[in-house]
Amino acid sequence: MRKNRYKIAVLPGDGIGPECVGEAVRLLEAMSEVVDWELELQEVLIGGAALDAVGSPLPQESLDACMESDAVLLGAVGGPKWDGVELAQRPEAGLLKLRQQMDLFANLRPMRLRPDWSTRSPLRPEVIGGGIDILVVRELTSGIYYGEHGQSVDEDGERAFDTMNYSEAEIDRLVRLAFETARRRRRRVAEIDKSNVLATSRLWRKVTDRIAGEYPDVAVEYLYVDSGAMELVREPGRFDVIVTENMFGDILSDLGAGLVGSIGLMPSASLSMPGRPALYEPVHGSAPSIAGQGISNPIGTILSVAMMMRHSFGREREAQAIEGAVDEVLREGPWTPDVAPPGAAPASTDVVGSAIRRRVVQRLNPGRRENGNMNGSREEGAYGYRAQAASGDGVAAGR
Ligand code: IPM
Ligand code: MG
Repeated sequence: MRKNRYKIAVLPGDGIGPECVGEAVRLLEAMSEVVDWELELQEVLIGGAALDAVGSPLPQESLDACMESDAVLLGAVGGPKWDGVELAQRPEAGLLKLRQQMDLFANLRPMRLRPDWSTRSPLRPEVIGGGIDILVVRELTSGIYYGEHGQSVDEDGERAFDTMNYSEAEIDRLVRLAFETARRRRRRVAEIDKSNVLATSRLWRKVTDRIAGEYPDVAVEYLYVDSGAMELVREPGRFDVIVTENMFGDILSDLGAGLVGSIGLMPSASLSMPGRPALYEPVHGSAPSIAGQGISNPIGTILSVAMMMRHSFGREREAQAIEGAVDEVLREGPWTPDVAPPGAAPASTDVVGSAIRRRVVQRLNPGRRENGNMNGSREEGAYGYRAQAASGDGVAAGR
């Protein structure tokens, strides 16, 4: 029987991107030894690294590799080295162009905090309660990021503007995906906007209202972004799926990372229409101040690989093996400094990466474990995601 072969474009990028992607690639390679699929990895340039090497933050060769892949794994882009570069050539512009060219309109950013994890959440235990499990569904290819920008000079000095622009179709496909996803979770959607001020937000609310009518089994609530931010801190446990426009999603997902205690833990998936390649990247960014020290947390990138297994390849078993291994390491260590409990000696990126890798391989190949017996029921379990990933119902992306 021919094995499935997954072609993955790998874009390490800048700052801590390469070290975190390195751990994720080592994990993928270790997994490929014990499963019935094969890997074909192609590493290409993006961001400042690409700008320095070939003069463009997204060379055509990189874009082609992404378009021709089954999935894309990305580290991070940007850093102070390129602060002086004009906007259109900045490392970030490479990422924005890639999102747009691949039509990655839906950015899924899960924020999870289990009460038994070691993290440095600033929340009191009674606020964390039973834990946090929120999925931010952020619009990623339109809005103020992609509206008209400009500068001029007049009698008041310099002037600049950015415009936010949304069509009904752009909102519709994203909100629909949020409701579909909520059906496989706790069936609650919070739409977050600024409809007391913005015309775009009024359109978001109108479209969401119409779609909510098609999902009577999903509870919907509407929040202004200012009070939504407050509620997230006050009572995070009340949220399930949050759906919102591009910039509000950018801001609220960092707020969520703050709640969980480390942005280094957060993965993301950027999905296009079914059948097209999706992109997976940690939320943390390039973190130049700690780059190269071997102390960055690889978990955000490793959990992004879990999302790739689930959403692009329909490999729920692999996804759960990764997530289970990460849960275990967050409970028992080793920990990078950002999540190490007080008094525990922090470990390096590669030590955490290999601890997770070993556990993933054990879970996928329990025969190799010296003494025992995996909890098979969890692997085999009836978690709702599996059917979804395989059925191509609008949430699963890729081929
Ligand atoms: C993110 C980042 C990007 C964004 C930057 C690097 C352009 O902050 O993915 O959240 O604003 O979308
Ligand atoms: Mg951001």
